[in-house]
Amino acid sequence: MHSAICPGSFDPITYGHLDIIGRASALYDELVIAVLVNHTKASLFTVEERIEMIREVTREFPNVRVDSWSGLLVEYCKAHKIPVIVKGLRAVSDFDYELQMAQMNHQLAGIETVFMSTSPQYSFLSSSLVKEIAKYGGDVSAHVPATVLTQLLARLDLIAKSEGSEGGAL
Ligand code: PNS
Repeated sequence: MHSAICPGSFDPITYGHLDIIGRASALYDELVIAVLVNHTKASLFTVEERIEMIREVTREFPNVRVDSWSGLLVEYCKAHKIPVIVKGLRAVSDFDYELQMAQMNHQLAGIETVFMSTSPQYSFLSSSLVKEIAKYGGDVSAHVPATVLTQLLARLDLIAKSEGSEGGAL
């Protein structure tokens, strides 16, 4: 069986991620979407919330499995016998760091990285930008699936209200 892994923060998953996931799932028998548990990086959604959203929007791909991990990606790959990491490249600006990680992961454990070019309509898309635009009231409905949009707006609304009430208490 040929397995591959798509690792990332997915905070939250966007159509850019889904583009790569859909295309990669057609190339491998099993594709694992692995959400990184990173305690040093602030996230909008918990790992469980991100996993649930990914499961919801990848239902159409029967060979996609969603999981989380903390620590070195190559250790997860070795433990689950996954020989290939799939990464999307949006632009040359992604390349330097991705190449460095690919070479390091290969040196550490012989894990191969396969780069897939993002479809052009998503080349400017990132979870960070989506969050920033949504936070200031911009329309991100073209960039994330409807269920993600609903949860994103609800979370931002909650934060805005709590910040408002904190401000009011001062
Ligand atoms: O969606 P992101 O935040 O760009 O994903 C980056 C990610 C999680 C794929 C990368 O930071 C990673 O693999 N981290 C796991 C820790 C690790 O293995 N570091 C060494 C990389 S050579």
